[in-house]
Amino acid sequence: MNIKKIAILTSGGDAPGMNAAIRSVVLAANHYKLETLGFYSGYNGLIDDNSTKLIPASVNGIIHRGGTILKSARCPAMLTEQGLKAAAATLIKEKVDALIVIGGDGSFNGLLALEKHWSGQLIGIPGTIDNDIDGTDFTIGFSTAVNTGIEAIDKIRDTAEAFERIFIVELMGRHSGHITFNVGIACAAEQILSFENFSEVDEQEKLVHLAKEITQAQENRHASYIIVIAENLWRGGATELAKQLKQTSNIDCTACILGHIQRGGSPVAKDRILATKMGVSAVQELIAGNNNVMIGERNNQLVNVPLAIAIQHNEKVSESLVLAQENILALTAQH
Ligand code: F6P
Repeated sequence: MNIKKIAILTSGGDAPGMNAAIRSVVLAANHYKLETLGFYSGYNGLIDDNSTKLIPASVNGIIHRGGTILKSARCPAMLTEQGLKAAAATLIKEKVDALIVIGGDGSFNGLLALEKHWSGQLIGIPGTIDNDIDGTDFTIGFSTAVNTGIEAIDKIRDTAEAFERIFIVELMGRHSGHITFNVGIACAAEQILSFENFSEVDEQEKLVHLAKEITQAQENRHASYIIVIAENLWRGGATELAKQLKQTSNIDCTACILGHIQRGGSPVAKDRILATKMGVSAVQELIAGNNNVMIGERNNQLVNVPLAIAIQHNEKVSESLVLAQENILALTAQH
């Protein structure tokens, strides 16, 4: 089919680099003489028919901006027949031939559900700080979030050193440990608690072990001690872990939840470049007639990944990172 008009939206947790991806899609579409419609606030914009025409001037000066000029949202209505029908009706009314969605697994589930109600082409671009999408080495926003985490923890390290304090820093990632592991390694965290090296049944055992390790480290050398922990790992999170260490072993820890600071800020070079490449590729794939795929990148090569594969969560944090931390821990325990 010869496509004339494409639509784009950003959905789910915003990620630095989403604007760079929007810019790239709009400029590539313009190059191929396609019209672009931007829907506001994720799938809500589709359901409510809330859109704006995007031309090259609309995306001037946005490559370096965090957030998304199209706004984002989670949209429970896309889980209902009524919501899906309303979204499809808007696409038909606006004469859209193809839809590009920048988001994470929830957003891609929305695309897969929409497929049953609308016959246009659908393409996903992975935009989430969590890096929890299969078929791509990196998602847009992940590298910036990792850098933000590193910057924050380097600062925490200064005050922790000065006061010889123990900090427990909780990082985002939903149910994946990519941010926690990468930030932990890069900040030389004394402990990394993440899904890859922990299971819920371990909790009590881990508490005893942690208390022993902290005490030993503090006896050997008075210094800072940083534990990074993935959100949703420990029941009650960093605050509860700090409380339990105090109650069971009289260890004083300061809990610090980095939270949404990890979602904001100007995207780093890696995210801007990845987003730009993926945006152009999404438009080219639509023109080539591809449908129901996500644009991914493997070993520096752009690839097409079926949306149904992208949302499977089979790809975990690289084993080499987990091993590196284990080895470092074993080494530091000897000194
Ligand atoms: O998916 C991105 C993310 O920031 C996760 O890391 C986090 O668990 C979640 O979104 C937070 O969602 P909300 O902003 O809706 O609280």
